[in-house]
Amino acid sequence: MKEFPNAEFASRFRRHEAELKWLYYELYHGDARAYEYFTDMLYRSWEERPEKLKMMDRAREEYPDWYKGHDMTGMLMYVDAFAGNLKGVQKKLNYIIDCGVSYLHLMPLLESPEGRNDGGYAVSDFRKVQPELGTMEDLANLADACHEHGIAVCLDFVMNHTSEDHEWAKRARAGEKEYQDRYFFYDSWTIPNAFEQTVPQVFPTTAPGNFTWCPEAGKIVMTTFYPYQWDLNYANPTVFNDMTDNVLNLCNHGVDIIRLDAVPYIWKALGTPCRNLPQVHTLVRMMRMVCEIVCPGTLLLGEVVMEPSKVVPYFGTREKPECHMLYNVTTMATLWHTVATRDVRLLAHQMRQVFRLPREYTYLNYLRCHDDIGWGLDYGFLRSFSQEEVPHKKYLNDYLTGKWPGSPARGELYNDDPTLGDARLCGTTASLCGVEAARVDGSREAMEKALRLDMMLHAFMFTLNGVPVLYSGDEILQENDYTYHDDPLKREDSRYLHRGKLDWAKAKKRTSKASPEGKMFAAIRELENLREELVVFDTNAEIWLPETGNDHVLGIGRYYRGEKMIALFNFSDEPQDAWMVHDREAFISLTDGEVYDTGTVTLPAGGFRWLLHRFERSDT
Ligand code: GLC
Repeated sequence: MKEFPNAEFASRFRRHEAELKWLYYELYHGDARAYEYFTDMLYRSWEERPEKLKMMDRAREEYPDWYKGHDMTGMLMYVDAFAGNLKGVQKKLNYIIDCGVSYLHLMPLLESPEGRNDGGYAVSDFRKVQPELGTMEDLANLADACHEHGIAVCLDFVMNHTSEDHEWAKRARAGEKEYQDRYFFYDSWTIPNAFEQTVPQVFPTTAPGNFTWCPEAGKIVMTTFYPYQWDLNYANPTVFNDMTDNVLNLCNHGVDIIRLDAVPYIWKALGTPCRNLPQVHTLVRMMRMVCEIVCPGTLLLGEVVMEPSKVVPYFGTREKPECHMLYNVTTMATLWHTVATRDVRLLAHQMRQVFRLPREYTYLNYLRCHDDIGWGLDYGFLRSFSQEEVPHKKYLNDYLTGKWPGSPARGELYNDDPTLGDARLCGTTASLCGVEAARVDGSREAMEKALRLDMMLHAFMFTLNGVPVLYSGDEILQENDYTYHDDPLKREDSRYLHRGKLDWAKAKKRTSKASPEGKMFAAIRELENLREELVVFDTNAEIWLPETGNDHVLGIGRYYRGEKMIALFNFSDEPQDAWMVHDREAFISLTDGEVYDTGTVTLPAGGFRWLLHRFERSDT
């Protein structure tokens, strides 16, 4: 057993020591020296951790479910798009507070080369903030200010790769074998070609292939994402040690939630798809233990954009948890499918699966994020309605890009691969809901409809367990930003369509109740407040799918401590009736106070209702 001078650290370490050592030795073939370095590094990181953060760790250790309440709302933003730089974000913290946000995800902000940065996901220095955005000190100050207002800070940890400008990459390029060993370098195309047989492509049109020729080194390097993003080799313990050190450094600057970027990709093996390999889970489990030892107030959020069967294992088990939170990615994609098809059956099927999962699992629910929408739907289920994958994707993309006659959506395709028929989709929530088209057409009626749909999708997100995360700008109906078309550094990547600068003129209108922006902002605030106030939103509530007798209308039921809620969502662009055959209590509609006691609820096109019934003590 390893000894440490500090009792608190030692006791946390001891709790995990046996498992940590066992996993480390198994992965790294009993490399005792590497393990020794690793554990010393953990202690050093703990020693460097500011006392303020250690106090927060202790409080969160006492109350480990601190992030599972129904009072959390997240927001995801680019620092530069929101306020120029980190200091700017701190100055505008009031706006963030105004949005009711208690979890702030700042998009990648560490140093990365201009024009070769994949929106900040190609990091050249994990210990330095991109100079235009500020400094590590600014980051720590912002985190401090957030903590004072009860806001937790989330930051990406881009662990699968470094930028080709990272110190290690430079030394590897210069021929230093030690640094080449931190990546995947090959002298000939034999092995890379063998990999290509089984490894799918992430960016088939913008960055085809998984390998890149490196002329300076005279070798081939693995680049799963863009050619300037070099995959790290986690079979080398030095990589794991140093990257873990980097992550802990971010935690010590006040980052509460670490988003493990592209985590399924971090282990590679010939003859496999190089996704979700068992070693990935070993690494994530070790990261979880590292956090519990050094900075137990920290959460791990896994970015696993895969089908549900691949996502759930990243929660780990009750005894051996991995990530604290994961993205509810299939629900998000299914939601947009439902917008386009107006048929809720697939969404109901998807929700049934989510509702079956243990309550310990916390999902992060979202409508849009900085990435495209990939159509990872349950095609097995869709096939039972004769909907085949390729034509179905084509329909979704046609509808959501507004190509389909009558569609008010305005999106753009992403990585359109005509050979596979596999294009993905970009656009802001407002533009996809029809706000942009309604504004351009100057149609009040279309605007009302688009607004209702946008509000309904948000209401759906707020109905679920987990953390709802707003995409910055959605609260004020931010539309697509077409200026990226004219930027030679961005024009190939249509994800920039929904990464525009926050429109502060629109943000100003949020206080005017008559403006669409004001209506949207007020609606989101109301949803947040109701969600926070009512016990029926407790994570432990019973949750089910009530019958609505209408394939356009999804129902979600919740019950907790005498409160019963029926949430109804009409995806049709016509008014629809929901027949609540099993739910005949008298309900009050939370957003407009109307009473429904006949079992039939008429919903406007794209409308929703949150209906509540409170049982008296005697009838519970
Ligand atoms: C994640 C990010 C995406 C990025 C990729 C490579 O999927 O969300 O934006 O391109 O990782 O780092």
